[in-house]
Amino acid sequence: MSLSKLAKETSSADHSELQLDEQGRLRHLLSLRGMDRDLIVALLDRAESFLTQPGQRPVRGKALDGRTVANLFLENSTRTRTSFELAAKRLGADVLNLDLNTSSAAKGESILDTIYTLQAMQVDMFVVRDRQVGTQAIIARNVGAHVNVLNAGEANVSHPTQGLLDLLTIRLHKGNFTNLTVAIVGDVAHSRVAMSAAAGLIAMGVGKLRLVAPPELAPDAVPGADIVTNFDAGIADADVVMVLRIQKERFMDKAGIPDDAEYFRAWGVSRERMKLAADDAIVMHPGPMNRGVEIEGKLADGPASVITEQVRNGVAVRMAVLEMLANNGATG
Ligand code: CP
Repeated sequence: MSLSKLAKETSSADHSELQLDEQGRLRHLLSLRGMDRDLIVALLDRAESFLTQPGQRPVRGKALDGRTVANLFLENSTRTRTSFELAAKRLGADVLNLDLNTSSAAKGESILDTIYTLQAMQVDMFVVRDRQVGTQAIIARNVGAHVNVLNAGEANVSHPTQGLLDLLTIRLHKGNFTNLTVAIVGDVAHSRVAMSAAAGLIAMGVGKLRLVAPPELAPDAVPGADIVTNFDAGIADADVVMVLRIQKERFMDKAGIPDDAEYFRAWGVSRERMKLAADDAIVMHPGPMNRGVEIEGKLADGPASVITEQVRNGVAVRMAVLEMLANNGATG
């Protein structure tokens, strides 16, 4: 059976049983959906211990000494790929970045045959991004018992390490989740970032979660979240405003892509619009940003923005996840 047919038959809902071993320890990182709160807290606590101030030397460790990590990105990435590489190297791993444009994938080799080839070279951990649903789960079902798979972005379904770094960023600024109103704003329908953030926030007991989108970019129902199609009502009194990129590459109907200027006028998050949010609200964006489309550049660079902190926290979160997988589910 081809990988695309397998992917269609692989439900993203079955990730939680696949990502934990029989003792309930983290075996693969595939999704935040259904993840236990205590496990998330353990990862955030450990990630926090890896943070240093700008200008200080990064924390290093030996948890991945003798291990080999392969980055397989079948979709473009700057932040996720480089931060996984830095995280793995800071924990002592050898790191392979496979260029799939020049690899034998271009000759028709399947992703599973590519995985088996690298596994034969003693790769222990695969970090995988793909535009298809289910690729990471299929790989996790087919690797050796000692091999771990990490989801670095799965279609519009899941981006668990982004969700964790978003949780860490919010926790560092707001302390807890239960009293917070979080608005995730923009192209929610195409956003794996929104889905993982929502799953993580719900697991952490967020006070109110609003998925705020134009009607044509609103998602299907998400239990635990309100779907709001009025921008001003969605952003009102929010403590956290997470802005999403318009994922033009995921539009099935290219004619339906909104005009940039019109989108900014109607749905761009600006300093003016942020006056509706709480006075001390923070502004987040997973990157890459389209300045002047979904977010005003001066807001992205201004005092409410925590966007560069999200990037910094991404390395720490990925260190925590890699370490936990290397330690058979234990932190530290
Ligand atoms: N946020 C995020 O996933 O960014 P990249 O696509 O650059 O990895």
